[in-house]
Amino acid sequence: MKLSGGGTHWLIWLYWLALIGGLAAYLGYALRKGDAAVYLVGDMTHAHHQIVLSCNSCHAEPFGGGEVLQTACMNCHAEDLKAGDDSHPKSKFTDPRNAERVAKLDARYCITCHTEHQPEITHAMGVTLPNDFCIECHADIADDRVSHAGLDFASCATGGCHNFHDNQALYEDFLIKHQAEPDLHPVALQPITADASLRRALIDHPVAPLDLPAADMPVEIQVDQRIAHDWESTAHAQAAVNCSDCHTVDLNDGAGAIWRAKPDQRACQQCHSTEVEGFLGGLHGMRLAAGLSPMQPRDAQLPMKADKADATLSCTSCHGAHRFERQSAASDACISCHNDEHSRNYTDSPHAELWRRELSGQLPAGSGVSCATCHLPRSVHVLKDVEVTLAEHNQNANLRPNEKMLRSVCMNCHGLAFSIDALADPELVKNNFTGLPAQHVPSIDWAVRRHATESETSSFNAREESK
Ligand code: HEC
Ligand code: HEC
Ligand code: HEC
Ligand code: HEC
Ligand code: HEC
Ligand code: HEC
Ligand code: HEC
Ligand code: HEC
Ligand code: HEC
Ligand code: HEC
Repeated sequence: MKLSGGGTHWLIWLYWLALIGGLAAYLGYALRKGDAAVYLVGDMTHAHHQIVLSCNSCHAEPFGGGEVLQTACMNCHAEDLKAGDDSHPKSKFTDPRNAERVAKLDARYCITCHTEHQPEITHAMGVTLPNDFCIECHADIADDRVSHAGLDFASCATGGCHNFHDNQALYEDFLIKHQAEPDLHPVALQPITADASLRRALIDHPVAPLDLPAADMPVEIQVDQRIAHDWESTAHAQAAVNCSDCHTVDLNDGAGAIWRAKPDQRACQQCHSTEVEGFLGGLHGMRLAAGLSPMQPRDAQLPMKADKADATLSCTSCHGAHRFERQSAASDACISCHNDEHSRNYTDSPHAELWRRELSGQLPAGSGVSCATCHLPRSVHVLKDVEVTLAEHNQNANLRPNEKMLRSVCMNCHGLAFSIDALADPELVKNNFTGLPAQHVPSIDWAVRRHATESETSSFNAREESK
């Protein structure tokens, strides 16, 4: 099953030598062209294929084995796992009481379950174990829970009931607490984006003048009137963020504070560090985070619109310069690139109709559902000790397993049971939630039943004891 084994180490060495010898560009070319020598290592998982040219993101040392890889995984993932309140953290398995379980499946190490370069055994979410692996440690679950007798172990994590890591919306007490919610809340509970004046006050910048400032580009720069006009109409001009604030910034790359025609996310970072960090943490920005060139739709595995093949992913892909607005960024921009079935079906979904009605003023702010409502959900951040609602710019943060969307998105408008059922229905995901869930996930019913029996037993015990 393992591709490793000493024989393949020479490939890592080849890469190290190539990087040192400046051959990286050639290897990059070879990789794109599908050169056989490069493919000896095997394709990367869907999540990591964009950083395939950055071997040393994971192989920080050429002969690094388990611990070196573990450190690399943790460098990029420790925070997501913590944010997802990991149910099976490494600390559970360094506990000597679990030594017997670890002997069967060494869950202390990420690569036991998520190895790389082995497409033939890789399932969704980069998992490289068979679907029924929970049996290794929970074979006797039916002894404790009658409801689980006879269940197929492959269904624990695929039936909408459990995840290995993130169970924040699936644990028993949560299910019981939210058991009786209506399919649809009468009013959306979603936080509305904090008003711009609050955010503006939190950004270090001179107080905005009463009159719009004059554009401060250097005289020798030829500027299309449209640029100045777009800029004048924006939150930036109103907050006295001038041409030079983005275009003449020292990006610490040795060039100093010169005029740059096309500033990148490092210019935005001075004032919007939360958004920049999110962007770099997800698929859209992961190549930039690894020090590679920006991502381009032509290198995607997901279907993309052909006319966007050569576009580059940056802040301005969604917030076109120089209007930098939020509305077209939330759906129109996404559809201009994404071309898979789910994305194409959005426009005709009931959610999209709500979004159009919000934009035309027929519904209050926050009642529409754009692509960004689900994929860049608003969440509360603390900036300078003040709570402010910002868009999560890592569009992978709640993407998989999709139960991550329960708390961050669906439950703002729908009850828990309806949302669990809808997310567990692959047809609804494909048609972008047009229609009702075809099946029911019984986890809430089971939790409620067990809770009722337990409280009966415990009140019985209490009565017996008081006799
Ligand atoms: C996202 C992390 C990641 C990236 C990026 C990555 N690898 Fe790997 N690589 C792994 C993992 C995990 C293994 C499996 C190690 C194991 O099972 O012991 C592995 C194994 C290997 C092996 C087998 C050697 C061994 O340790 O037994 C080779 C060769 C290899 N990788 C080469 C490459 C090359 C060349 C690149 C760049 C083109 C690359 N890898 C990029 C994670 C990565
Ligand atoms: C350079 C940073 C980096 C390193 C190193 C790295 N990853 Fe990732 N990984 C990412 C990014 C970015 C994503 C996509 C966004 C996300 O899902 O969080 C991702 C996604 C994943 C996913 C989710 C797959 C999916 O389809 O949802 C798994 C599992 C994963 N990584 C495991 C690992 C393991 C195991 C290692 C160590 C061998 C590792 N990663 C090393 C950056 C990294
Ligand atoms: C015993 C197997 C196992 C081990 C060990 C394991 N994972 Fe996972 N991982 C899974 C499974 C299964 C999934 C699919 C979603 C789920 O069930 O949580 C997953 C999903 C993920 C995801 C995407 C979903 C999410 O919740 O973020 C990331 C990222 C991830 N794993 C990273 C890691 C890292 C990093 C480590 C090491 C610290 C690790 N995993 C160790 C089994 C494992
Ligand atoms: C390598 C062993 C191992 C594997 C594999 C494993 N678990 Fe666990 N799991 C544990 C341990 C240890 C605990 C702590 C409680 C205990 O001792 O039973 C636990 C606890 C749980 C709990 C109790 C809830 C909680 O948060 O404490 C659930 C539910 C659970 N696991 C589900 C799963 C599912 C579903 C899978 C497969 C996707 C799985 N486990 C795979 C070892 C494992
Ligand atoms: C909030 C940051 C920001 C501000 C303020 C800003 N720009 Fe830009 N500007 C950018 C970015 C980012 C790009 C690159 C756009 C792209 O990626 O296509 C850009 C591109 C340009 C270009 C090159 C256009 C092209 O297509 O080659 C010119 C010229 C320009 N800006 C002039 C100005 C002038 C004049 C002002 C003031 C009136 C200004 N900018 C204010 C961020 C800004
Ligand atoms: C010198 C500080 C500064 C820089 C640099 C800056 N911005 Fe802003 N930006 C602001 C302020 C202040 C606001 C108004 C408060 C708010 O909406 O957050 C704002 C608002 C925004 C908005 C919301 C607009 C709206 O209509 O609600 C977007 C989008 C945005 N900026 C994107 C960018 C991008 C992309 C860059 C980099 C190319 C950038 N900004 C650079 C200070 C800055
Ligand atoms: C995939 C599209 C996309 C990309 C790429 C993107 N944004 Fe956004 N951004 C949005 C959307 C959509 C919103 C508004 C969400 C809302 O109102 O709920 C937003 C909101 C904002 C805001 C307003 C404050 C907030 O967080 O809600 C700022 C500032 C901002 N983005 C800055 C940036 C910067 C800086 C970058 C580059 C690092 C960037 N954006 C890249 C889609 C994007
Ligand atoms: C300039 C084109 C472009 C724009 C605009 C854009 N994306 Fe993407 N997006 C991509 C590319 C390219 C990928 C990487 C796909 C791949 O590697 O297969 C991606 C990845 C994603 C992923 C992760 C998919 C996965 O399987 O991990 C999601 C979710 C996503 N985009 C949603 C959005 C949303 C929502 C918007 C608008 C708010 C948006 N995108 C705007 C090009 C774009
Ligand atoms: C009601 C919430 C919702 C809306 C609206 C929505 N999505 Fe999704 N999206 C999801 C869910 C849930 C998934 C499935 C995640 C999983 O299970 O793999 C998903 C998956 C995706 C993926 C990954 C597809 C793949 O095959 O890997 C992309 C890309 C994406 N969405 C883009 C978009 C775009 C672009 C829009 C708007 C045109 C949009 N989504 C609208 C909830 C939504
Ligand atoms: C901002 C509020 C809001 C959010 C967030 C939201 N929805 Fe909805 N959703 C609605 C409303 C309102 C309707 C009813 C629309 C109608 O009947 O026209 C609806 C309808 C639906 C339907 C039924 C569609 C039909 O054809 O009858 C499904 C399924 C659905 N939503 C699933 C989800 C899922 C899954 C999520 C989370 C990923 C989600 N929704 C997030 C407001 C929301």
